[in-house]
Formats: sequence, structure tokens, C-alpha cells
Amino acid sequence: MKNPFVFGKVVAGENFVNRHEEITLLQNHFNHQIHTILISPRRWGKTSLVLQACQTMPNTKQFRFCYLDLFGVRSEQEFYQKFASEIIRKTATKWQEIGSWLKNFFRHLKPKISIGNQENEWSLDFEVSDNQHIEEVLNLPEKIAQKKNLKMVVCLDEFQNIDSFTETTSFQKLLRSYWQHHQKVSYCFLGSKRSMMSQIFEKQKMPFFKFGQVLHLNRIATEHWIEFLQKSFQATQKTISPTQALQIAEIAQNHPYYVQQIAFWVWLETDKIVQNDALEKAIKHVIAQNEPFYEQIVENLSHSQIQLLKAIVQQEKQLSSQETIKKYHLGTSALVVKNQRILQEKEIIFSEKKQYRFEDPLLEKWFSWKFVL
Ligand SMILES: Nc1ncnc2c1ncn2[C@@H]1O[C@H](COP(=O)(O)OP(=O)(O)O)[C@@H](O)[C@H]1O
Ligand SMILES: [Mg+2]
Repeated sequence: MKNPFVFGKVVAGENFVNRHEEITLLQNHFNHQIHTILISPRRWGKTSLVLQACQTMPNTKQFRFCYLDLFGVRSEQEFYQKFASEIIRKTATKWQEIGSWLKNFFRHLKPKISIGNQENEWSLDFEVSDNQHIEEVLNLPEKIAQKKNLKMVVCLDEFQNIDSFTETTSFQKLLRSYWQHHQKVSYCFLGSKRSMMSQIFEKQKMPFFKFGQVLHLNRIATEHWIEFLQKSFQATQKTISPTQALQIAEIAQNHPYYVQQIAFWVWLETDKIVQNDALEKAIKHVIAQNEPFYEQIVENLSHSQIQLLKAIVQQEKQLSSQETIKKYHLGTSALVVKNQRILQEKEIIFSEKKQYRFEDPLLEKWFSWKFVL
């Protein structure tokens, strides 16, 4: 029988847990052309959520959804090509239409179509120099939406990546200068590096300041996980007790990826009824799999950063108080602040309810076994 738990892939349908409020909110934004900025640590379910909101949109016929993953996009040029290709791919219904749009909407840039190896795989190829005629690319969704009398949702995933472009601020300025006039398109920006997303959307002097509503995604609550775990075991002729389901959610700290991953191994370990040692085995297994990666993370940290992580594991609240600094040998309070910033940029810790926590609950567990206990 197929393992009902999925991790590392976008989840949908049966595998998608709760998030009803977030879906309704996003759909309202899409309907009313409110731009959205969705931020959370990695693997909390941003991509799955946005795609689910698009797929379950009630009046879907009036909409076109365009999703772009900017992971690995390294330059403005690459962005423009990917953007234009995706917009056309999701809106044109026939080759003929593509041909006529290329002719009408790209009078200057004159893209060529390059065909890939797989069926229906193609992309647009054009050169942009000094941002001349960039309007042809950046206004494309609005022009197509107007022409076809549609609404469009353009999702830009891993948007924090644009921060690595050489001229990022002027690039952002350019995007905003066109997109702010769009009437029929709502933009949804997804990103994980909190510090970078804040830099782009929450700094007054930055072009995208107040461009849309910022949503910080929360964890999925325990009761939803318990229900999901019990239901998924049951549907595959296995049984997990509510206490065991609760334990999975707790160990994973309700982190969606890890709840699914641990449940995956518990399921494999189980014939009919989950045994109490199955959970421990699953955790050891996941940690063992990740250990080389965890070791590498720690190898790249300084002594004072490791000390700071120890204080975080021990749930110290006042990291830069003299008492904590002395207890953990954290150096100076300026060094604590600097290390907090570095550990956040490396996506090792993040701040939740005014407290620093590990992003990865199993890294935390492994770290406390190795360094604290
Ligand atoms: N709503 C959800 N229900 C169940 N599992 C989820 C949900 N959201 C995320 N997950 C789990 O987390 C993993 C990462 O989700 P993803 O959408 O890729 O997160 P992000 O885009 O924030 O990195 C998925 O592969 C899945 O295992
Ligand atoms: Mg994602």
C-alpha cells in the first residue's frame, strides 16, 4: 500500500491539512487585486498553500494563475525571460495566439521561441539592454488580462532571491513602477528569508514598501495534525493512537515537513498498530539521514554562535542580558546581536513570539544531544 505521507513535494488534496482561513484570505486578495507577501521559514507550506488557494478558487474560469519559482534565477535577464514565457504559457490557448501576441505585444524586443526536448517545452528568448522597452515584458500580464477580460494571479516564489541581483534596488523600482498600475493582476510574493523579505517589503526607503499585505504563515495547529495522522493511518488499514499522533506533532513542533516525514517512517515501521518504539526509531532514522548536513551547518559556525545556539536550546529568553552572556560565554551584547543576525540569515534560527527558536526541530534535537546534554 502507498505511504500516505508526503514530504519535500508540494502537497494537495488529501495530503493538504487545514489552512482554511489562509486559503480564504488569499482568495479574497486574488479576487480584489490585493497584492500579498507571504513569509515563513522554509518548508512550512507556503508553496503548497498558494497553489492550493489557486486550485480551489471558486470562480476559477475568470482567472489565470501563473506561478514562477525564482530559485536559481540569477539575473534580471533570466527573470524577464522566465516571466514572459510563463505568463504566455498560462494564458494562450493556441500556438496561433502565441504568435499573434508575440507580434503585437513585443514590437521591439522581438522574442524568439526556443523549443526544449520535452513536449510542450518552450521558452522565449530575447535580449534586454538598458531596460529599454522593458514595459513590453512587465506590462504583459495586464495587457493579456485586459484583452481576454480575465483576472490574473502572478505568484513569485522564492522572491528573496532577487536580492542577489547586481542592481536589485533599481530592478525592484522598475517592477513596482509598472505593477502598481495593474488593474487586473494580483501579485503574490513568497519567501523564506525573513530578513531579506523584510528588507524588500518593510523598509520605508525600498521600492516595494507597502506594496501589499504582509502575511506571516503560522504553524498548523496540533488538533489538525492529530486528525490528519489518524485519518491517514486509518485509510491505509493501520492504527495510531491520539497520544502517539500528538507525540509526532510535538516532536516535529508542528512543523509541516517534519510531521509528514516522521509520520512517513512511523507508517513504514508499522504493520497494523503503531508500537511505541516506532516513533523513536523514526526520529533516529530522520536524524541519522540528516546528520552529515547538520554537522556541516555546525562546522561553519563560530564558537560564540554555537554558544548562542546552546542558550536558545535551553530557551533562555533574554539572550543579551549580562546573566545569559556570562552563563553561556556569549562575548558582548553587540556580539550576541550580530550572531542572532547571522544565524537568522543562515536560516538556522528565527524569531517567533519574541523568542528565538531553531527553524529545524530535528536539528535542535540533534544539537541538544551533541552539545547540551
Ligand atoms: N497544509 C499542509 N498539509 C500537510 N503537509 C504540508 C502542508 N503544507 C506543507 N506541508 C509539508 O511541508 C512540506 C513543505 O511544504 P512547501 O509548501 O514546499 O513549503 P515552503 O514552500 O514553505 O518551503 C511539504 O512537502 C509537506 O510535507
Ligand atoms: Mg516553497
